[in-house]
Amino acid sequence: MAGEMTPLKSLDARYYTDPEIFAVESNGLLASSWQFAGHASQLQKPGDYFTFEMAGESLFCVMDRDGSINTFYNVCQHRAHQLVSGSGHSKLIACPYHAWTYELSGQLRAGPNIKAVPGFDRSEICLTRVPTENFCGFLFVNLDPNARPMDEWFPDVRQQLRAHVPLIDRLRPLEWVEIPESCNWKVSVENYSECYHCTLNHKTFATGIVRPETYDIQPQGFCLRHTTECQNLDQMSYPIDLEANEHAGDYSSWFLWPMFSFQVYPGNMLNTYHWRAIDANHVVVWRGWYSLDGAESETVRQLARQDRETTVEEDICLVESVQRGLNSRGYRPGPLVIDPESGVNSEHSIAVLQGWMRSAGDGLPSFDADR
Ligand code: FES
Ligand SMILES: [Fe+2]
Repeated sequence: MAGEMTPLKSLDARYYTDPEIFAVESNGLLASSWQFAGHASQLQKPGDYFTFEMAGESLFCVMDRDGSINTFYNVCQHRAHQLVSGSGHSKLIACPYHAWTYELSGQLRAGPNIKAVPGFDRSEICLTRVPTENFCGFLFVNLDPNARPMDEWFPDVRQQLRAHVPLIDRLRPLEWVEIPESCNWKVSVENYSECYHCTLNHKTFATGIVRPETYDIQPQGFCLRHTTECQNLDQMSYPIDLEANEHAGDYSSWFLWPMFSFQVYPGNMLNTYHWRAIDANHVVVWRGWYSLDGAESETVRQLARQDRETTVEEDICLVESVQRGLNSRGYRPGPLVIDPESGVNSEHSIAVLQGWMRSAGDGLPSFDADR
């Protein structure tokens, strides 16, 4: 911060390497923040479901009879067998162990011989529900039953994203690119959240569409918003109609703490990142690519390929080297380069992020700790 005599230091290495801190994050932050589950288009009609894993839990999203989407822990309320696997369609949720069945609302419907039990009240038994939000077609869940809504965590993001991607409701996933990285999830997220490394490490950064001197990253609630002016739009690999809408020529990104990001390229071209923390030293990043109505698109395929071969590959080398360094006895956390004027060569966004990370690693709840 401006005026302070002692520069703010980067986070202690143990936050990135200590399995005990990882356990605190898994039980705290990861179980009380909004995490990406899947895309709404994966559920087309009542009874469609898909399973996913997060924070050590198996969960599933299912479309209810009225078209709403429920998320449940994937565990039977009889004697704890897993209910469903993969994805599919079913009118009822049937447990494979003793054949108890549940409505799509989670309510117990029937079970062999349960009527023989005096006082057995079906209506008291329901699958354990998880708060779920449909955020412009992207499904997020929060294991905290009292979770505050995403619009409080990420003010104005929904409206801004819609303005930047006017046809977002028609987008369908075309490709998920899976990128395992041998580093702590926070190393990968920090790498995404600053561009102090970009000039040196991303060959296309200075010569591409971004005007580096205008690049900035600012907090917006628990979102880190990236903005920049663009250049060379006539040299892009796909044509853009700049007259199409207000943001047709813009680049922007919205990182949603702790593990998701929307990124929009000029031409209203949406792509996403989501991270899944594996353990203190491993994370998997998925790059998501979309097309209108899920139509095959060579443009999108090529963007996905190009991104994987350049930016992603370059960043993997950086983050894995950093993780080795964080495990070195020789590392003492260095000062962050915080320019009071912000800008591309400033780590002010890392200072914000590491504030959230420190709270999470210390087991403090996000809202009470930082707002
Ligand atoms: S554990 Fe599911 S029916 Fe028994
Ligand atoms: Fe990078």
